[in-house]
Amino acid sequence: MALSITTKSTTPFDGQKPGTSGLRKAVKVFQQENYTENFVQCILDSAQAEGHTLVVGGDGRFYCPEVVDIIIKMAAANGVKGLIVGQHGIFSTPCLSGIVRERGVCGGILLTASHNPGGPDADFGIKYNCSNGGPAPDQVTNAMYDLSCKITEYRICPDIQCDINTTGTYHYEIEKYGQFTVEVVDSVDAYVKLMKDIFDFPAIADFLKDFPVLMDGLNGVTGPYIERIFLSEFQVPEDNVRNSKPLPDFGGLHPDPNLTYAKALVDTVTANHKYKLGAAFDGDGDRNMILGQKGLFVTPCDSVAIIADNSDCIPYFSKHGGVKGLARSMPTSCAIDLVAAARKVEMFEVPTGWKYFGNLMDAGRLSICGEESFGTGSDHIREKDGIWAALAWLSILAQRRCSVEELLVKHWSTYGRNFFTRYDYENCDSEQCNQMIEELRGQLDDASGSLKGRSFENGGKTYTVAKADDFSYIDPIDGSVATKQGVRLIMTDGSRIIYRLSGTGSSGATVRLYVESYEKFEAGSEDKYLQDCQVVLKPLLGIALEVAKLPQFTGRNAPTVIT
Ligand code: G6P
Ligand code: ZN
Repeated sequence: MALSITTKSTTPFDGQKPGTSGLRKAVKVFQQENYTENFVQCILDSAQAEGHTLVVGGDGRFYCPEVVDIIIKMAAANGVKGLIVGQHGIFSTPCLSGIVRERGVCGGILLTASHNPGGPDADFGIKYNCSNGGPAPDQVTNAMYDLSCKITEYRICPDIQCDINTTGTYHYEIEKYGQFTVEVVDSVDAYVKLMKDIFDFPAIADFLKDFPVLMDGLNGVTGPYIERIFLSEFQVPEDNVRNSKPLPDFGGLHPDPNLTYAKALVDTVTANHKYKLGAAFDGDGDRNMILGQKGLFVTPCDSVAIIADNSDCIPYFSKHGGVKGLARSMPTSCAIDLVAAARKVEMFEVPTGWKYFGNLMDAGRLSICGEESFGTGSDHIREKDGIWAALAWLSILAQRRCSVEELLVKHWSTYGRNFFTRYDYENCDSEQCNQMIEELRGQLDDASGSLKGRSFENGGKTYTVAKADDFSYIDPIDGSVATKQGVRLIMTDGSRIIYRLSGTGSSGATVRLYVESYEKFEAGSEDKYLQDCQVVLKPLLGIALEVAKLPQFTGRNAPTVIT
């Protein structure tokens, strides 16, 4: 007998507006009656999913299984033809992107709040990816939001039972629509196959025999992927992998791979000189942090530039006709621009958010890109990819036969170094932060109180503002425009100060301050490249705090996180 569809009345919730990367709120918000159902209905409607197939999975955080169940029941009731669900409801973000592309389906629903903590008192998120495997663009997420403001009912098929813990294909007969299928698949298989097509696995395995690494899953979704690739495929010792069991609360860890939240990894690699490379990944597996021996930190900005410059070590690019173009988000340092210029390929600067890379990749103009926010990736999928970045580094080191430090110094000796740091002030008062940005906007090039031409002195260094603007972007492929993407002060020597409010927080406001200064030292002075970033950038940081009156507006004397 066909399973029946129930139509339930509902009323809109405020604030179901997807941010930089989906709708992200406290678990308790999603647990309110109808809250999750409302948003899922808006996704299914704006994605026009009727008659199509979707991929569904999340990072295994608390509340994922319940929401997978809701999506199965609602997809059936909305005429979706089939779902591909990860076993236990799990898919890393890059894996889901790859499956959407490989299977040629309409899109995917990701259940993750990325690097935000998980658990009943922490965060949850729902994000929609389109048929190219990439995060939905603004037009689509705006349409979701508009629907969420006027929703009156949603449809659900309450009697569907699906065992998402056991792989297999489950068939259902649904009233009005007929056949509905849920295919529960292994969450790792497809991703490993994809990585094997991109990298030379035997060469990496061979290199790792005397190059011990430490891969840290931070109890997030990457654990099973790391175990399969490093333990089963590369056969490295067990102590080369840690925190590799995905836990609903990430074991209490904050699964964000940076110097603050992955400090335990930094400490281990710093103390134990055995490890020649350390890597950590975030909750949903799209971010990465790379460390060299003794805890040497590779900034994400340098990481993407180095991968781009050494892309000949990665078989995927030669198979696909070489690297076409490179890109970074606006606050990311300009290190990769220098590589693009040297290699005479197109270079793009987009707003913060991986979704802005998708069109360029789809148009065949972009091969490798990255963001300062620990995102690195290529056009093999339409999300950033943490494990891909670690494998890219290992491929390069395996071929160049050098250490992380040697590779960094060689790169800086060729191109110079873009010293870069980011200060985050988390959970500040939103009104005060908005006012700070508004005051800065009052000092842009076209404003009466313009900063242009003004000089600032700090710590014996003087910087003069050549240009002050609020970054805006016109997508070269579809002409769509994104405005107010961050206030930039560009100095006469190319140094930059950037102020932005984060679009991924779940409460309050997070101010991000990005500071960058370029240095090229003479031959023989290469060791200067290894100077501490915080020391080199101190004067510019001082100016940045002063110009925005940041301590006054945030009420903070120090940032929450420094990367
Ligand atoms: C997510 C997005 C990234 C973005 C990052 C930081 O990880 O996928 O593209 O760079 O958030 O965004 P935020 O708005 O918090 O600076
Ligand atoms: Zn993430």
